[in-house]
Amino acid sequence: MTVKITTLMENTSGAPFICGEWGLSMLVETDENTFLFDTGPSERIIENAQRLGVDLSKIDKIALSHGHYDHTGGLQAVLINLLESGAKPDGIEIIAHPDIFQPKFVHIKDAVTRDIGIPFAREELEALGARFNLSPDPVQINSFTTTTGEIATTTEYEQIEATLHTKKGDQYVPDELADDLSVIIKTEKGLIVLLGCAHRGIINTLNHARQQTGIEKIYAVIGGTHLIGASRQRIDATIAALKEMKIEKIGASHCTGLAAAALLANAFKDAFFFNNAGTRTVL
Ligand SMILES: [Fe+2]
Ligand SMILES: [Fe+2]
Repeated sequence: MTVKITTLMENTSGAPFICGEWGLSMLVETDENTFLFDTGPSERIIENAQRLGVDLSKIDKIALSHGHYDHTGGLQAVLINLLESGAKPDGIEIIAHPDIFQPKFVHIKDAVTRDIGIPFAREELEALGARFNLSPDPVQINSFTTTTGEIATTTEYEQIEATLHTKKGDQYVPDELADDLSVIIKTEKGLIVLLGCAHRGIINTLNHARQQTGIEKIYAVIGGTHLIGASRQRIDATIAALKEMKIEKIGASHCTGLAAAALLANAFKDAFFFNNAGTRTVL
């Protein structure tokens, strides 16, 4: 069994002529189907896909890790691209948590508040062929791949960033990011876990994946680990937990942050790689 991952968008360009943009999108090709995990922040995903020689019309399903714009902002362009290709006359299934359409904000330096939610109304996406399958529970993507559903918070050191908010009425309230989900692929080498932002914590996510599947062995983890801005104590605790899990491949992206990525690279040596826009990984 082969799993081929092409990173269509990420903060940093990892290949010539490929655009880097804050966000994440990974195309996953398996023996059974091809699916897209997140869409990056904008329509630039389309040009990157073309330049990488990726045929987006092969996508069978789309999974969204959470409602932030940097993972969902390219969705409209992907839907238009699919419509124009005629590949999905009946629309395409989009798997996500029901809270992706909640209002989402970030407070910056106690003064500025930015809207960081999904930049489209559900209805306008549905008019372009989106068929939302919204569930807090795991959803099957193919016979060996599933979303995590809502991730339980079990570690003490992984807290959701205090700057992230949603709105209840007129009030800003902390966003619990219940919509944060990851993708689990079962292979003969162990689990491959794909992270969007891992707002609920990378270790919480991996513990959850183990519990959900009953499989201890985690072979590879790829995506955003949300260690950006984390304390050195939390990064060290994360590295210790990852070492204990004996993970064989760690592809850091996006909200990992460069400093944390450097620490991971140092700790995991050849098992580590930067998963940037244009990175192709065959597992
Ligand atoms: Fe996010
Ligand atoms: Fe993000």
